[in-house]
Amino acid sequence: MCGIVGYIGTQAASGILLEGLRKLEYRGYDSAGIATVLEGEIHCVRAKGKLINLEEKLAGEDNPARIGIAHTRWATHGKPEEYNAHPHMDTAKRIAVIQNGIIENYRDLREELKSRGCEFRSDTDTEVIPHLIAEQLAESDTSLLEAVRLVVNRLKGAFAIAVISADYPDELIVGRQQAPVVLGFGQGEFYCASDTPALVPYTRAVLPLENGELARMTPLGVEIYSFDGHRLKKTPRTLNWNPVMVEKQGFKHFMLKEIYEQPGVVRACLEAYFDGEWAATDADKSPTHLGLPPELLTDLQHIQIVACGTSWHAGLVGKYLIEQVAGVPTTVHYASEFRYAPAPITSNTLTIGVTQSGETADTLAALEMEKKRRSGFTQPELQSRLLGITNRPESSLGDLVPHIIDTHAGIEIGVAATKTFVAQVMAFYALALDLTYRRTAKSPEQLEEILIGLRQLPAQMEVVLESQERYIEELAHDFAETQDFIFLGRGINFPIALEGALKLKEISYIHAEGYPAGEMKHGPIALLDAKVPVVAIAMPGAVYEKVLSNAQEARARDARLIGVTPMDEQEAADTFDTLIPVPHVDELLSPILTVIPLQLLAYHIAARRGLDVDQPRNLAKSVTVE
Ligand code: AGP
Repeated sequence: MCGIVGYIGTQAASGILLEGLRKLEYRGYDSAGIATVLEGEIHCVRAKGKLINLEEKLAGEDNPARIGIAHTRWATHGKPEEYNAHPHMDTAKRIAVIQNGIIENYRDLREELKSRGCEFRSDTDTEVIPHLIAEQLAESDTSLLEAVRLVVNRLKGAFAIAVISADYPDELIVGRQQAPVVLGFGQGEFYCASDTPALVPYTRAVLPLENGELARMTPLGVEIYSFDGHRLKKTPRTLNWNPVMVEKQGFKHFMLKEIYEQPGVVRACLEAYFDGEWAATDADKSPTHLGLPPELLTDLQHIQIVACGTSWHAGLVGKYLIEQVAGVPTTVHYASEFRYAPAPITSNTLTIGVTQSGETADTLAALEMEKKRRSGFTQPELQSRLLGITNRPESSLGDLVPHIIDTHAGIEIGVAATKTFVAQVMAFYALALDLTYRRTAKSPEQLEEILIGLRQLPAQMEVVLESQERYIEELAHDFAETQDFIFLGRGINFPIALEGALKLKEISYIHAEGYPAGEMKHGPIALLDAKVPVVAIAMPGAVYEKVLSNAQEARARDARLIGVTPMDEQEAADTFDTLIPVPHVDELLSPILTVIPLQLLAYHIAARRGLDVDQPRNLAKSVTVE
């Protein structure tokens, strides 16, 4: 969603704020704006569209202000126009506010303010905040902190805000309620941002604000308060990131860089999750070291996974693994559906929230709901058991659930998830094998065989990247004008077909459907003709012959057939018009390889079309609103 950034200190703020917005632009890019306090006035500049438009407006300005706030917007309330861009100000233009989130009771507050003569300049929910703060300051001889505190207590919804005032030129007030904001600590200078990439170029000493907390930042230091006014003691921690991690490092787009980082991510997951030496002869110890307590996983009768988008696809791969390898019945739910229509309560149930950002509002709400509805039970088998799988253990998810599997993918900037998906799938391999071992659902020899296969994956992924990227880039030329695509898969590769279709939709704006190959004949086959390419994932295993037959059905309708299939498979070579070969691998492990050509295909088609791959229209990297 939106990105907010703030600075107070010894340097000119505007350069630091713009640099911060650049790092946060993945969160939204409908408009951008900046406000600083200069010579007793607020200096506010805003522009519709991407950050570049704001930068052009600011070009040539030499603004020495040492305090400021800035915002990049993903529109929720009000069109993406300049008048709706943040920062928003009070009538007298003495207070400027930026916000990420949604103020749910803004209509009531707006009417109330209007009834007292307040005039609004935007359609946003945010504009009520500066007007309310101005009223508080006018009503009583109070501090800026206290005025903000009184106002945030009136706001309903999920929000993170930063506030400056022309009358308090040495104070930046930051608040958080259910939307992320992290503080950064330098020498006599302090920062706040929606996400850490905006901070790492300046400092690695950070402190995420928690829900219901306010920070008063001055050039002398940072004070933290609760929304009820109590001073809190907090200590920053050190991030083990470096600024290079948030640069493109020679790649044209972050997405391509992140696709290429995947073998390294799988290596990191193998190291973090598995005993590297484990063999069948070590059957008296677990092959995994996830650090999850026995009470979370013993006697499980049911696992329910809640997630959105790509994370939901990873959840589907997880379901396949957990059911087919460990033998635990598993259901996968869209978090946005589950939160309002949860499955009936079952005994001994583990609920897993999968979210790379750890901030997706629907996933957090589904988990919160699950926790709450089970809190009334005294029977141990009905109490909640919650686990999170995330790339950001320091996120809101980390606060909400007691146990986390960290996916170790490193920061992902491209809006289309790639390496974080692969890392989530790796987390599910680890969890499934952990459960398999605990439940003795497979023999040690079978476990060892899976582990041997997993350890070979990084090198096999490198083969796919090295041997296929150029070819897929050329292949993408054929599809620059294509309007519809179908992706087919079965079994463990059905979620990969969904993921391939989602990637293509997100960044190339081509309509694409992912379908279980066997279901085509029940309807979607009517869509096929010579203009609709079909990408089928056909990996030898339980459903190989079936997928090839389904592909033949598509071929009989003149569709161009593209097969993601192992090298040197004659039957596949005879079936498909175009082959994208991947190394021979056990079907169970194949998603980690088969997803790569689909990511590359989506990437190159979008790049060929000249689209903004890293910041596709209408999307945001983390969706912190409902
Ligand atoms: C992925 O390419 C998408 N941008 C999107 O579907 C994403 O996976 C979804 O919004 C969930 O995000 P999360 O993993 O941070 O919860």
